[in-house]
Amino acid sequence: MIILGIETSCDETAVAVIKLNLDPGLRQDDIKPPKVLSNVISSQISIHQKYGGVVPEVAAREHVLNMVPVLNEALEVAKIKMTKIDLIAVTVGPGLITSLICGVETARALAFALNKPVVGVNHIAGHLAAPFLTNNIKFPALALTVSGGHTNLVLLKDYFNYKIIGETLDDAAGECFDKGAKMLGLGYPGGPAISKTATEWLPGLKLPRPMIGSGNFDFSFSGLKTALLYTLKKDKDYQKRLGNYAYELQTAIVETLVYKTIAAAKKYKIKNILLSGGVSANSSLRQGLEIAVHDQIRGGHLYLTALPYTTDNAAMIALAGYFQFKKKGFVSVAKLRANSNLTLTH
Ligand code: KG4
Ligand code: ZN
Repeated sequence: MIILGIETSCDETAVAVIKLNLDPGLRQDDIKPPKVLSNVISSQISIHQKYGGVVPEVAAREHVLNMVPVLNEALEVAKIKMTKIDLIAVTVGPGLITSLICGVETARALAFALNKPVVGVNHIAGHLAAPFLTNNIKFPALALTVSGGHTNLVLLKDYFNYKIIGETLDDAAGECFDKGAKMLGLGYPGGPAISKTATEWLPGLKLPRPMIGSGNFDFSFSGLKTALLYTLKKDKDYQKRLGNYAYELQTAIVETLVYKTIAAAKKYKIKNILLSGGVSANSSLRQGLEIAVHDQIRGGHLYLTALPYTTDNAAMIALAGYFQFKKKGFVSVAKLRANSNLTLTH
């Protein structure tokens, strides 16, 4: 089965073609990662960098310009003719509405013209599917999905049976990286900039680990950002210590994410832990969670998302689209709708 994925929820225009050699069905013993035939991403980062963040109307205009070239490149690299596609999967939300519409209308036009089935995929379901692109994963599993817009702990009973057990009450982990980097003058996107700048701990410099003692699995990162702001205001020479501030901010975010994930895994007795989303590109988080799973979960296994699939891409949307298609079938071309506030349901 050949699936075309389309992703335009934020500032990446992405199209991918994946192939499932063996129909894996939805049974655990049949799981087999697909072959990613192409995964083309046109990033707008350099355009938005001068504004310090994504400007929605600029992003939408760029998607319009990029969509056809990116689609053509994805098909060329995959060496697949449009008519050979069996299913079209497109992100319908959550995200920037004007950006989402570019992908949705492209998918609608293709599905109509080619007479192919189409599914509308939740962007977070895409991030949840990303580790399955390269791993054979056993269920039940617990996923930590951390991106610029979302911080979620999700229980997965199978491919398409989610239960959110924790989420952020305010800023997402990636947003905290981005806003912290802005305060430190490190530019956008903040995650990679903080990670590159981080050096070592400065004795006495301590930022909070938000909600670590809350007894639930929710997150809150806006207080951490404010704590950084006030700490910087008190330090006239903070420019000399950027490496220490970046280190402490990164450590506070990573420790909080790792602590809550391990606590949830213990409570729900889950051994298979998944890590995905843009922030999961962070090497401190990857290593920190790997060590914690190894040391604290008996028989535990951490399934990482391969780096090219951590930040927004269409291969993960194609695979999530396949899971959804197997479970719920496709939607009529006329019913496909973008929804910027879409929530994750199973
Ligand atoms: O998944 P993604 O591409 O888009 C959303 O769905 O939001 O995630 C983007 C986020 C940004 O906040 C970016 O700063 C963060 O992922 N990010 C990182 C790293 N690479 C990207 N955060 C920490 N460390 C990184 N290496
Ligand atoms: Zn994303």
